[in-house]
Amino acid sequence: METIRKAELSDADIVASLVLETGQRFLPLIFGPHVKLILGKLIRVPGTILYIDNIYVLESDERRVVGAVVAFPGKTVKRLAFKTLLTLFRIMGVELFKRLPNMTLILSRNKVRNDEFYISNIAVDKAYRGRGFGSKLMKFVERLALNAGVKKITLDVENTNINAIELYKKLGYRGVATKRVYIRGQKFVFIRMEKELKPEVEKT
Ligand SMILES: CC(C)(COP(=O)(O)OP(=O)(O)OC[C@H]1O[C@@H](n2cnc3c(N)ncnc32)[C@H](O)[C@@H]1OP(=O)(O)O)[C@@H](O)C(=O)NCCC(=O)NCCS
Repeated sequence: METIRKAELSDADIVASLVLETGQRFLPLIFGPHVKLILGKLIRVPGTILYIDNIYVLESDERRVVGAVVAFPGKTVKRLAFKTLLTLFRIMGVELFKRLPNMTLILSRNKVRNDEFYISNIAVDKAYRGRGFGSKLMKFVERLALNAGVKKITLDVENTNINAIELYKKLGYRGVATKRVYIRGQKFVFIRMEKELKPEVEKT
């Protein structure tokens, strides 16, 4: 039976690979050729958006980490974004300034209200998709949000990511806005989706 647990430092590399899966097209454009290394570092630095405190992993019954979700309360976003930029400057140095327009666009995409919970990334290992693991991670976040006293979850998804959009719709999310983002001259369209958590969810 698979289990969901808080991520640990020893999960950093596998989680970095999973996070990269959530933005295969745009994350390398933002972070450059060392994208996986940079994601791995962010996962290890306290206070960043990707720090392990914000990550839960799904272990398969053979104890392999095969899924991960990055999620946090909206009220922490500004603090997390600031620490993330600071850490990226330490990692990337002046290269950050060359890429800064991309970063700020992405961070502004993540604007979330204080009374919302934000799912930043969710991914399941390709070999384990279609077994309900993605849904399990999403429902886990609903419980986290309710435990934190938050009754709405928001997320952004690329309009080309049909599998993810179908999953979110099936779980009751609805699209509320779209946003165009240009990264290194390439156009990306993100759909903001949200779900109001209902009392019956609290019982499940
Ligand atoms: C999105 C993702 C996390 C779903 O994980 P998963 O473990 O396959 O999810 P589930 O098994 O719970 O799938 C549930 C639903 O997703 C949708 N779905 C999954 N694969 C699909 C496919 N190939 N075609 C259409 N819909 C699909 C369906 O609605 C499915 O419900 P169903 O099984 O009742 O038909 C996974 O596809 C993934 O890791 N994708 C790459 C990373 C990513 O894009 N993340 C989202 C952006 S942050």
